[in-house]
Formats: sequence, C-alpha cells, structure tokens
Amino acid sequence: MERIPVFIPFIGNDTKKHLEDALDVGWLGMGASTKEFEERIADFLNLENRFVVTTNTGTSALHIALRAAGIGSGDEVITPSFNYVADHQAIKMTGANVVMCDIKEENLGIDCEKAEKLVTEKTKAIIPLHFAGIPCNQKEVFEMAEKYNLRVIEDAMHAFGTTIDNKKIGSYGDVTCFSFDPVKIVTSIDGGCVIVNNEEEFKRLQKFRLLGVDKDTTERYKNKRSWDYDVVSEGYRYHLTNIMASVGISQIKRVVEFIESRQKICQEYNKAFKNIEGVKVPQTDFKEISPFIYSLRVLDDKREFLIKHLDKIGIDVGIHFIPVHKHSYFANDRCGDMTVTDRVVKEILTLPLHTNMKSEYVQRVINGITSFFKNN
Ligand SMILES: Cc1ncc(COP(=O)(O)O)c(C=O)c1O
Repeated sequence: MERIPVFIPFIGNDTKKHLEDALDVGWLGMGASTKEFEERIADFLNLENRFVVTTNTGTSALHIALRAAGIGSGDEVITPSFNYVADHQAIKMTGANVVMCDIKEENLGIDCEKAEKLVTEKTKAIIPLHFAGIPCNQKEVFEMAEKYNLRVIEDAMHAFGTTIDNKKIGSYGDVTCFSFDPVKIVTSIDGGCVIVNNEEEFKRLQKFRLLGVDKDTTERYKNKRSWDYDVVSEGYRYHLTNIMASVGISQIKRVVEFIESRQKICQEYNKAFKNIEGVKVPQTDFKEISPFIYSLRVLDDKREFLIKHLDKIGIDVGIHFIPVHKHSYFANDRCGDMTVTDRVVKEILTLPLHTNMKSEYVQRVINGITSFFKNN
C-alpha cells in the first residue's frame, strides 16, 4: 500500500520546462526572471501602490521586513507562540526581543485582547499569523496597531491567495510577508517576498536583500552587473535567483487551479468530519481561503491514538506547531497567558493535503479518520 505523505509538491512538465529554459539563458543569479516573478506576484494579488521584493526564503523576508520597518536592538515585537519559529528567530536576528502571546479559539490567530496586555513603551511591531491560510482577526490587529502606534508585519506565509471581503491578503495594510518554500501552494523551491506600501521602504528592502549594494537590483534585473557601485546600507545575501524565480513563475501561472483544487479537498474533509463528536473542523467553508494545510482538532486526548491508527494504514500526518514558548532557546523570552495555545497544541493534527490530490488518497484519509471514530 502506497503511503500518503502530508505534502507532495506539484511539479508539472511546465515547471520542468521553465527550469530548463532558465538554465539555458545562462544567467543563474538574480535577474530578469526575478523581476518577472515579482511582477506576477503583484498582478495576482492586485497590488496598487504596493511593492514586492522577493527573497530567498520567507524567513529572510521577515528579517528584512522587520529591519525596513526600523525594528532593532532593544525593541519588542509581539507574535503568537503558536507560529513557526522562523518569526521568532527573525525577530532575534534584528536584536529585538520576542514577546509571545496567546491565540483565539475560533481561528487560531492572535488574541489582541491578550496581546494588548503585553504592550510596553518598547513594543514596536506585531506579527499576526494567518494560520493554515485562514485569516486571524485582522481588523482587531490593525486597531491595536493604531492605538499603540505599532507596525504590522503580517505573516501570510500560509495564505497566498486568501481573500478577506474580496481583497487578497497583501493587497492592503502595512507589511506582508509570503513564503514560496518547498511545501507551499506556490513554490520557488525556496523563496519568499515582502510587500510594502511605500517606495522608501521598497528601495531599502531591495538593498537589504543584496548586501547593501546600490545598483544591484536595477542592473541584475537586465541580467547584467554593474562594476561601478557603492554600498550604502546594511545588507544580507537574501536575493531570489533566476532559477528559483523561474519555478515560481511556472507555479504562479497556475495558482488559481492549485487553490481551487485544495479548497475542494478541504470542503470534502469538512463535510466528512463535521459530525464526528471527537473532532473540531476548521470554522470556514474555504470559499475565501487559500488552504496551505488542513488542520483538524482531535479532542479528548485521542490524538496520539489516531496518529498510530493512521500510521498503520499508511497515512502520514503533521503537527503544526510545537508552541515556541516550549522550545529551550525561547524559554526566557517574555510571554503572556497561554491557556488556548497550551490546549490547542495537544489537539491539532495536519492531514495530507496536496494540489490536485488523488481522489483515492482523499477517500483513504476520510475512511481512516471516520473508521477510527466509529470504534473509539
Ligand atoms: C508560519 C510560518 N512563518 C514563516 C515561515 C518561514 O518561511 P520559509 O520556510 O520560506 O523560510 C514558515 C514556513 O513554513 C511558516 O509556516
């Protein structure tokens, strides 16, 4: 029996062709394809007066987003503990201090009421996460940011294509970061981007991503280099190469199909599981969601038994996430009340979800879950 992995990247012949063509061009580093990928991201998200800078990972996108927003040594940044550790590491990279807060039961996004209690005069930014592609309560986040004069850097790594009131996440607000890592809906093998709403920060980000060199972006976008340059700011080697961007381009051309296929599977899962007493399904019909993962809540301490049952019948599952306040490196960082986080992390279970997932796989996952709850 074939095992069903949690993730399978969707790499079609079109992606292979883009890759081959990009290799044939012979300009492997950052270049014209990087620029094209950025234009396609802007186009897909319907950006107006907002600017895209791609990076080599989502983590580096977060790091330079924080730096461009002026976050540095001694500042404090609030983010949920229920988040991937990339955010917390990116905060530390800037020299700022991590402050972790709890989440809300209904969407597993940041709890702003609790977050407000953690604000001090050192707090400069807040990083909300749209977990599994499902939006947090963004309105509350923006209200809180306004009240305390905080920058909002949205971790939208899971939500490329999710809409709120018909507007795509990233097309408004302050700063938004996306990831195109190997398992994301749109992958560039590894990659990410930052979206900002002003040209000054846009230009700063372009320099931060390539060692602070002033002319690198404009020249390399023409598949050229300038040998006469100045270094004008701090900088990192975080650029996205032409080769990676070519994979991203091939993927973004089909993003609508990818999202729709995943929405359908999530809707089937919700329908199959919603009447099972021992689980809680995501509280959405998925119509506005670009679902990166399908995260089920397994109640009554049954998760470990269910994992064993699924393992026996060849179904892999994942856990997103171990809360960051439980990791030893973050043990001394400030955090607030974690009642919801501590409960939820014992329940969450990521089921297999692939773009254009085989219907036989979908059925096996559904049967695997329902058969367990018939007997337990
Ligand atoms: C919530 C979240 N934030 C940040 C990241 C980091 O993105 P990347 O893997 O592209 O560095 C990830 C990656 O999985 C993530 O899930």
